[in-house]
Amino acid sequence: MQVLNVNRLPSSFARISNRSSHVRQATRSVPLAPTIKAEDVQLGQALLDAHAKAVELFKVIESKDLLKPGRTEEDINKEIFDLAAVSFGTRKYWHVRLVRTGENTIHPIHVKTPDRILKEDDIAFIDLGPVFENVEADFARNYVIGNDPEKNKLSAALPKIFKKCKAEYQSRPDMTGAELYAFVLRTCQEHGYKYANTYCAHLLGRFSHKMDYGLEDVNFARPENHTPMSAAAPNGDTRFWVLEIHILQDPAIGMYGGFYEDLLNL
Ligand SMILES: [Fe+2]
Repeated sequence: MQVLNVNRLPSSFARISNRSSHVRQATRSVPLAPTIKAEDVQLGQALLDAHAKAVELFKVIESKDLLKPGRTEEDINKEIFDLAAVSFGTRKYWHVRLVRTGENTIHPIHVKTPDRILKEDDIAFIDLGPVFENVEADFARNYVIGNDPEKNKLSAALPKIFKKCKAEYQSRPDMTGAELYAFVLRTCQEHGYKYANTYCAHLLGRFSHKMDYGLEDVNFARPENHTPMSAAAPNGDTRFWVLEIHILQDPAIGMYGGFYEDLLNL
């Protein structure tokens, strides 16, 4: 289990807490981290714990070899639901479970796609938002079935792009949502891919962050958000972000994309 070390918190995390006077007052009695709000430390740790469970869930999913040609996305999705229920006791998801394959992989979450049969030499992603003990996780990984070189190249680019973009954010945690979005698009282009969605990062928290914080532009890394991502929520809470990398193949090569998602400021 990853433990949130309050003495080595991301600089963005510490600075957010320093910014608010009521936060300083609230944390004077916290012995381990005098400038960090105790509730934020607790939530940060709870999100790491939920993340660790999501990682374990993906290990279980991968060990079962579910992505077999001939199976439908819906079948695979149902089996994932059952595995999570049996292995982790969770039946709650804060966003719709996505198993997308082939041409369906070009579409972001808000686009409903038809069920599809997985083929030989296909590409797929699984994007899950499980809720563990009322705390949200959000985790997605990309998979290639077979040896298609372009699909393998695209899939291999995803974690590299993610790592670069997360490192850039960590070096400039006060960047705005628009700045991160522009950096992500530029990095994807440098790897030869277009970006597939209108935003590249969103919040995560106790269930439900959507109800607590809303769906305004300020809560997404998108061109319309000119607020520093390190800014606290209106109630003074530290905001925890998830980074999504969703790239598209050149249509001349193939109608498909790839998706990868993980924590940004933890
Ligand atoms: Fe997700």
